[in-house]
Amino acid sequence: MATTRRWFNVESVPQSHIFPLEDRPGQEPIPLCRKIPIINLGQHPNSERTDTIHRIIQASQEYGLFQVIDHEVPEDVKTEALRVLEELFSMPSEEISKEAKESGWVYMGSTSFAAKGAHLWRDNIKHPCHPLEDCLQHWPQNPTRYREVVAAYIEEIRRLSLRILELISEGLGLDKGYLGGTSQVQFLTANNYPPCPDPSVTLGVLRHFDHSLITILLQGNNVEGLQVLKDGKWIGVEVVPNSFVVNIGTQLEIISNGRLKSPEHRVVTNAKQARSTIATFINPSPDCIIQPAKVLVNEANPPLYPSLSFKDFVHASKPFGPSTDALQIGVPSKNV
Ligand code: OGA
Ligand code: NI
Repeated sequence: MATTRRWFNVESVPQSHIFPLEDRPGQEPIPLCRKIPIINLGQHPNSERTDTIHRIIQASQEYGLFQVIDHEVPEDVKTEALRVLEELFSMPSEEISKEAKESGWVYMGSTSFAAKGAHLWRDNIKHPCHPLEDCLQHWPQNPTRYREVVAAYIEEIRRLSLRILELISEGLGLDKGYLGGTSQVQFLTANNYPPCPDPSVTLGVLRHFDHSLITILLQGNNVEGLQVLKDGKWIGVEVVPNSFVVNIGTQLEIISNGRLKSPEHRVVTNAKQARSTIATFINPSPDCIIQPAKVLVNEANPPLYPSLSFKDFVHASKPFGPSTDALQIGVPSKNV
Protein backbone atom coordinates (compact mmCIF):
# COMPACT_ATOMS: atom_id res chain seq x y z
CA MET A 1 0.00 0.00 0.00
CA ALA A 2 1.33 3.43 -0.88
CA THR A 3 2.01 5.62 2.14
CA THR A 4 0.17 8.93 2.24
CA ARG A 5 2.32 11.93 1.49
CA ARG A 6 2.06 14.25 4.47
CA TRP A 7 1.90 18.04 4.17
CA PHE A 8 5.34 18.44 5.74
CA ASN A 9 7.17 16.08 3.39
CA VAL A 10 8.40 18.91 1.19
CA GLU A 11 11.83 20.10 0.12
CA SER A 12 11.29 23.72 0.96
CA VAL A 13 8.89 25.60 3.21
CA PRO A 14 5.84 26.63 1.16
CA GLN A 15 4.91 30.32 1.01
CA SER A 16 1.84 29.56 3.14
CA HIS A 17 4.12 28.80 6.12
CA ILE A 18 6.63 31.63 5.78
CA PHE A 19 6.23 34.25 8.53
CA PRO A 20 6.82 38.00 8.20
CA LEU A 21 10.49 38.85 8.76
CA GLU A 22 9.98 40.29 12.24
CA ASP A 23 8.45 37.06 13.52
CA ARG A 24 10.88 34.60 11.96
CA PRO A 25 13.40 32.87 14.20
CA GLY A 26 16.14 33.69 11.66
CA GLN A 27 19.50 31.97 11.19
CA GLU A 28 21.16 33.09 14.41
CA PRO A 29 21.38 30.14 16.82
CA ILE A 30 19.49 30.68 20.07
CA PRO A 31 21.41 29.28 23.05
CA LEU A 32 19.81 26.79 25.42
CA CYS A 33 19.53 28.28 28.87
CA ARG A 34 20.89 25.98 31.55
CA LYS A 35 19.85 28.27 34.38
CA ILE A 36 16.09 27.85 34.31
CA PRO A 37 15.47 26.27 37.71
CA ILE A 38 14.76 22.55 37.92
CA ILE A 39 12.74 21.96 41.06
CA ASN A 40 12.46 18.66 42.85
CA LEU A 41 8.91 18.17 44.11
CA GLY A 42 9.65 15.04 46.15
CA GLN A 43 8.29 14.92 49.68
CA HIS A 44 10.62 16.93 51.87
CA PRO A 45 11.01 17.74 55.48
CA ASN A 46 9.62 21.16 56.33
CA SER A 47 12.85 23.09 55.97
CA GLU A 48 13.29 21.84 52.42
CA ARG A 49 9.66 22.60 51.61
CA THR A 50 10.33 26.25 52.44
CA ASP A 51 13.33 26.17 50.17
CA THR A 52 11.29 24.61 47.34
CA ILE A 53 8.64 27.32 47.68
CA HIS A 54 11.32 29.99 47.64
CA ARG A 55 12.89 28.57 44.47
CA ILE A 56 9.51 28.34 42.71
CA ILE A 57 8.70 31.97 43.51
CA GLN A 58 12.14 33.14 42.44
CA ALA A 59 11.97 31.23 39.15
CA SER A 60 8.49 32.60 38.51
CA GLN A 61 9.76 36.14 39.04
CA GLU A 62 12.90 35.78 37.02
CA TYR A 63 11.86 33.52 34.12
CA GLY A 64 8.10 33.05 34.56
CA LEU A 65 8.91 29.41 34.09
CA PHE A 66 10.54 26.45 35.81
CA GLN A 67 10.78 22.69 35.40
CA VAL A 68 9.68 20.12 37.94
CA ILE A 69 11.11 16.66 38.55
CA ASP A 70 10.22 13.96 41.08
CA HIS A 71 6.61 15.04 40.51
CA GLU A 72 4.88 11.70 41.15
CA VAL A 73 3.24 11.48 37.73
CA PRO A 74 3.90 7.85 36.76
CA GLU A 75 6.19 7.41 33.79
CA ASP A 76 3.77 5.05 32.01
CA VAL A 77 0.88 7.54 32.22
CA LYS A 78 3.03 10.06 30.35
CA THR A 79 4.44 7.65 27.79
CA GLU A 80 1.02 6.15 27.06
CA ALA A 81 -0.48 9.61 26.50
CA LEU A 82 2.35 10.51 24.14
CA ARG A 83 2.03 7.20 22.35
CA VAL A 84 -1.70 7.47 21.77
CA LEU A 85 -1.23 11.00 20.44
CA GLU A 86 1.48 9.81 18.12
CA GLU A 87 -0.93 7.17 16.82
CA LEU A 88 -3.58 9.82 16.31
CA PHE A 89 -1.24 12.17 14.45
CA SER A 90 -0.09 9.39 12.16
CA MET A 91 -3.64 8.81 10.91
CA PRO A 92 -4.40 10.42 7.51
CA SER A 93 -5.36 14.09 7.98
CA GLU A 94 -8.77 13.58 6.36
CA GLU A 95 -9.54 10.86 8.84
CA ILE A 96 -8.51 13.02 11.78
CA SER A 97 -10.62 15.93 10.45
CA LYS A 98 -13.65 13.71 9.98
CA GLU A 99 -13.28 12.23 13.44
CA ALA A 100 -12.91 15.74 14.95
CA LYS A 101 -16.04 17.04 13.20
CA GLU A 102 -18.08 14.10 14.39
CA SER A 103 -17.05 14.25 18.04
CA GLY A 104 -16.69 18.02 18.41
CA TRP A 105 -13.02 18.54 19.18
CA VAL A 106 -10.60 20.67 17.24
CA TYR A 107 -7.99 19.49 14.79
CA MET A 108 -5.61 22.01 13.34
CA GLY A 109 -3.71 20.51 10.53
CA SER A 110 -1.06 22.48 8.74
CA THR A 111 -3.42 24.87 6.98
CA SER A 112 -6.41 25.37 9.21
CA PHE A 113 -5.25 28.42 11.13
CA ALA A 114 -3.17 31.37 10.04
CA ALA A 115 -1.53 33.65 12.59
CA LYS A 116 0.00 36.80 11.07
CA GLY A 117 -0.89 35.45 7.66
CA ALA A 118 1.19 32.28 7.90
CA HIS A 119 0.35 28.76 8.98
CA LEU A 120 2.08 27.15 11.90
CA TRP A 121 4.42 24.24 11.25
CA ARG A 122 2.51 21.76 13.35
CA ASP A 123 -0.32 19.34 13.65
CA ASN A 124 -2.42 20.12 16.68
CA ILE A 125 -5.49 18.90 18.46
CA LYS A 126 -7.32 20.53 21.31
CA HIS A 127 -10.25 19.81 23.52
CA PRO A 128 -11.66 20.88 26.88
CA CYS A 129 -11.13 18.67 29.92
CA HIS A 130 -13.53 20.01 32.51
CA PRO A 131 -15.77 18.63 33.77
CA LEU A 132 -14.03 15.50 32.61
CA GLU A 133 -17.10 13.27 32.58
CA ASP A 134 -19.01 15.68 30.32
CA CYS A 135 -16.09 16.34 28.00
CA LEU A 136 -15.01 12.76 27.42
CA GLN A 137 -17.72 12.09 24.86
CA HIS A 138 -16.29 14.90 22.75
CA TRP A 139 -12.77 13.51 22.67
CA PRO A 140 -11.30 11.39 19.88
CA GLN A 141 -12.71 7.88 19.60
CA ASN A 142 -9.79 6.75 17.49
CA PRO A 143 -7.33 5.45 18.56
CA THR A 144 -9.85 3.51 20.62
CA ARG A 145 -7.94 3.82 23.89
CA TYR A 146 -7.49 7.60 23.52
CA ARG A 147 -10.16 8.56 26.06
CA GLU A 148 -9.01 6.18 28.75
CA VAL A 149 -5.32 7.00 28.36
CA VAL A 150 -5.69 10.78 28.14
CA ALA A 151 -8.21 10.88 31.02
CA ALA A 152 -5.62 9.13 33.22
CA TYR A 153 -3.05 11.72 32.15
CA ILE A 154 -5.43 14.63 32.90
CA GLU A 155 -6.17 13.24 36.37
CA GLU A 156 -2.45 13.17 37.13
CA ILE A 157 -1.96 16.69 35.79
CA ARG A 158 -4.83 17.90 37.96
CA ARG A 159 -3.15 16.48 41.06
CA LEU A 160 0.21 17.92 40.07
CA SER A 161 -1.25 21.34 39.33
CA LEU A 162 -2.96 21.46 42.73
CA ARG A 163 0.34 20.70 44.46
CA ILE A 164 2.12 23.41 42.51
CA LEU A 165 -0.64 25.97 43.06
CA GLU A 166 -0.53 25.21 46.78
CA LEU A 167 3.21 25.88 46.90
CA ILE A 168 2.79 29.10 44.92
CA SER A 169 -0.09 30.22 47.17
CA GLU A 170 2.09 29.70 50.23
CA GLY A 171 5.00 31.47 48.60
CA LEU A 172 2.86 34.51 47.86
CA GLY A 173 1.56 34.60 51.43
CA LEU A 174 -1.95 33.52 50.38
CA ASP A 175 -4.07 30.81 51.97
CA LYS A 176 -2.89 27.37 50.90
CA GLY A 177 -6.00 26.74 48.82
CA TYR A 178 -6.29 30.25 47.38
CA LEU A 179 -5.14 29.44 43.85
CA GLY A 180 -6.06 25.78 43.67
CA GLY A 181 -9.50 26.13 45.25
CA THR A 182 -11.40 26.84 42.09
CA SER A 183 -8.82 25.67 39.59
CA GLN A 184 -9.67 23.19 36.88
CA VAL A 185 -7.76 21.47 34.13
CA GLN A 186 -9.73 23.12 31.45
CA PHE A 187 -7.95 22.59 28.23
CA LEU A 188 -5.54 20.27 26.56
CA THR A 189 -3.62 21.00 23.42
CA ALA A 190 -1.28 18.45 21.92
CA ASN A 191 1.26 19.21 19.23
CA ASN A 192 3.30 17.36 16.73
CA TYR A 193 5.94 19.55 15.11
CA PRO A 194 7.31 17.68 12.10
CA PRO A 195 10.89 18.17 10.90
CA CYS A 196 11.07 21.31 8.80
CA PRO A 197 13.28 21.97 5.74
CA ASP A 198 14.01 25.56 6.85
CA PRO A 199 13.38 26.34 10.54
CA SER A 200 14.59 29.94 10.08
CA VAL A 201 11.45 31.10 8.24
CA THR A 202 8.60 29.41 10.07
CA LEU A 203 7.35 28.62 13.57
CA GLY A 204 5.71 25.83 15.51
CA VAL A 205 3.90 28.43 17.63
CA LEU A 206 4.06 32.21 17.20
CA ARG A 207 5.16 34.31 20.20
CA HIS A 208 2.40 34.50 22.78
CA PHE A 209 1.46 34.46 26.45
CA ASP A 210 -0.60 31.71 28.03
CA HIS A 211 -3.72 33.23 29.55
CA SER A 212 -4.00 30.53 32.18
CA LEU A 213 -3.18 30.38 35.87
CA ILE A 214 -0.40 27.98 35.04
CA THR A 215 0.34 25.77 32.06
CA ILE A 216 1.87 22.35 32.49
CA LEU A 217 3.85 21.26 29.47
CA LEU A 218 5.18 17.82 28.71
CA GLN A 219 8.04 17.96 26.21
CA GLY A 220 7.67 14.52 24.77
CA ASN A 221 10.62 13.13 23.03
CA ASN A 222 13.87 14.79 23.94
CA VAL A 223 13.68 17.40 21.24
CA GLU A 224 14.04 21.07 22.11
CA GLY A 225 12.00 23.87 20.53
CA LEU A 226 10.42 26.00 23.26
CA GLN A 227 11.92 29.47 23.63
CA VAL A 228 11.19 32.15 26.21
CA LEU A 229 11.76 35.88 25.97
CA LYS A 230 13.98 37.03 28.84
CA ASP A 231 15.26 40.61 29.10
CA GLY A 232 14.39 41.13 25.45
CA LYS A 233 16.30 38.05 24.24
CA TRP A 234 15.05 34.61 23.25
CA ILE A 235 16.46 31.71 25.23
CA GLY A 236 15.93 28.00 24.65
CA VAL A 237 14.33 25.73 27.26
CA GLU A 238 16.22 22.48 27.62
CA VAL A 239 14.48 19.12 27.75
CA VAL A 240 15.06 17.64 31.20
CA PRO A 241 14.36 13.91 31.41
CA ASN A 242 11.16 13.02 33.23
CA SER A 243 10.15 16.61 33.85
CA PHE A 244 7.31 19.03 33.21
CA VAL A 245 7.71 22.67 32.30
CA VAL A 246 5.52 24.95 34.41
CA ASN A 247 4.67 28.27 32.83
CA ILE A 248 3.12 31.17 34.77
CA GLY A 249 -0.02 32.34 32.96
CA THR A 250 -1.30 35.91 32.73
CA GLN A 251 -4.12 35.24 35.20
CA LEU A 252 -1.60 34.37 37.88
CA GLU A 253 0.47 37.44 37.00
CA ILE A 254 -2.63 39.53 37.76
CA ILE A 255 -3.57 37.66 40.96
CA SER A 256 0.01 38.09 42.23
CA ASN A 257 -0.23 41.80 41.37
CA GLY A 258 2.76 41.52 39.09
CA ARG A 259 5.05 39.67 41.52
CA LEU A 260 5.10 36.66 39.22
CA LYS A 261 5.67 37.21 35.53
CA SER A 262 3.96 35.46 32.68
CA PRO A 263 6.63 34.94 30.03
CA GLU A 264 6.23 35.48 26.31
CA HIS A 265 7.22 32.31 24.51
CA ARG A 266 7.25 30.64 21.09
CA VAL A 267 8.11 27.31 19.50
CA VAL A 268 10.70 26.88 16.78
CA THR A 269 11.06 23.85 14.53
CA ASN A 270 14.13 21.86 13.62
CA ALA A 271 15.31 20.16 10.46
CA LYS A 272 15.98 16.71 11.83
CA GLN A 273 13.41 15.45 14.26
CA ALA A 274 9.72 15.67 14.97
CA ARG A 275 8.85 17.09 18.38
CA SER A 276 5.77 16.29 20.41
CA THR A 277 4.30 18.15 23.35
CA ILE A 278 1.17 18.15 25.48
CA ALA A 279 0.15 21.43 27.11
CA THR A 280 -2.59 21.56 29.72
CA PHE A 281 -3.96 24.89 30.78
CA ILE A 282 -5.05 25.24 34.38
CA ASN A 283 -7.65 28.00 34.82
CA PRO A 284 -9.88 29.03 37.67
CA SER A 285 -13.57 28.46 37.30
CA PRO A 286 -15.01 30.85 34.68
CA ASP A 287 -17.25 32.61 37.23
CA CYS A 288 -14.20 33.88 39.15
CA ILE A 289 -13.18 37.51 39.22
CA ILE A 290 -9.60 37.91 38.02
CA GLN A 291 -7.95 40.50 40.25
CA PRO A 292 -4.89 41.10 42.43
CA ALA A 293 -5.30 39.14 45.68
CA LYS A 294 -6.48 41.51 48.41
CA VAL A 295 -3.68 40.56 50.82
CA LEU A 296 -1.07 41.57 48.24
CA VAL A 297 -2.50 45.03 47.82
CA ASN A 298 -2.02 47.93 50.22
CA GLU A 299 -1.09 51.59 50.15
CA ALA A 300 2.50 50.86 49.26
CA ASN A 301 1.46 48.26 46.70
CA PRO A 302 -1.58 49.54 44.80
CA PRO A 303 -3.30 47.17 42.41
CA LEU A 304 -1.51 47.16 39.07
CA TYR A 305 -4.38 45.45 37.27
CA PRO A 306 -8.14 46.04 37.27
CA SER A 307 -10.68 43.51 38.55
CA LEU A 308 -12.29 41.73 35.66
CA SER A 309 -14.85 39.03 35.18
CA PHE A 310 -13.44 36.12 33.27
CA LYS A 311 -15.35 37.23 30.18
CA ASP A 312 -13.93 40.74 30.37
CA PHE A 313 -10.49 39.35 31.07
CA VAL A 314 -10.69 37.44 27.81
CA HIS A 315 -11.35 40.74 26.02
CA ALA A 316 -8.82 42.71 28.01
CA SER A 317 -6.06 40.15 27.64
CA LYS A 318 -5.06 41.69 24.33
CA PRO A 319 -2.34 43.87 25.92
CA PHE A 320 -0.61 40.64 26.82
CA GLY A 321 -0.28 39.82 23.16
CA PRO A 322 -1.87 37.21 20.97
CA SER A 323 -4.17 34.89 22.82
CA THR A 324 -3.59 31.17 22.93
CA ASP A 325 -5.63 28.15 23.56
CA ALA A 326 -5.73 28.71 27.29
CA LEU A 327 -8.91 30.71 27.12
CA GLN A 328 -10.92 28.27 25.13
CA ILE A 329 -12.63 26.69 28.03
CA GLY A 330 -15.67 24.86 29.15
CA VAL A 331 -18.15 23.27 26.86
CA PRO A 332 -16.89 21.55 23.77
CA SER A 333 -17.08 23.73 20.72
CA LYS A 334 -18.11 22.80 17.25
CA ASN A 335 -15.42 22.67 14.64
CA VAL A 336 -15.55 25.41 12.09
C1 OGA B 1 1.26 26.42 23.89
C2 OGA B 1 2.75 26.35 23.91
C3 OGA B 1 4.75 25.01 23.79
C4 OGA B 1 5.30 23.76 23.15
O1 OGA B 1 0.63 25.45 23.40
O2 OGA B 1 0.72 27.43 24.37
O3 OGA B 1 3.37 27.32 24.23
O4 OGA B 1 6.49 23.55 23.32
N1 OGA B 1 3.35 25.17 23.61
O5 OGA B 1 4.54 23.04 22.49
NI1 NI C 1 2.07 28.69 25.27
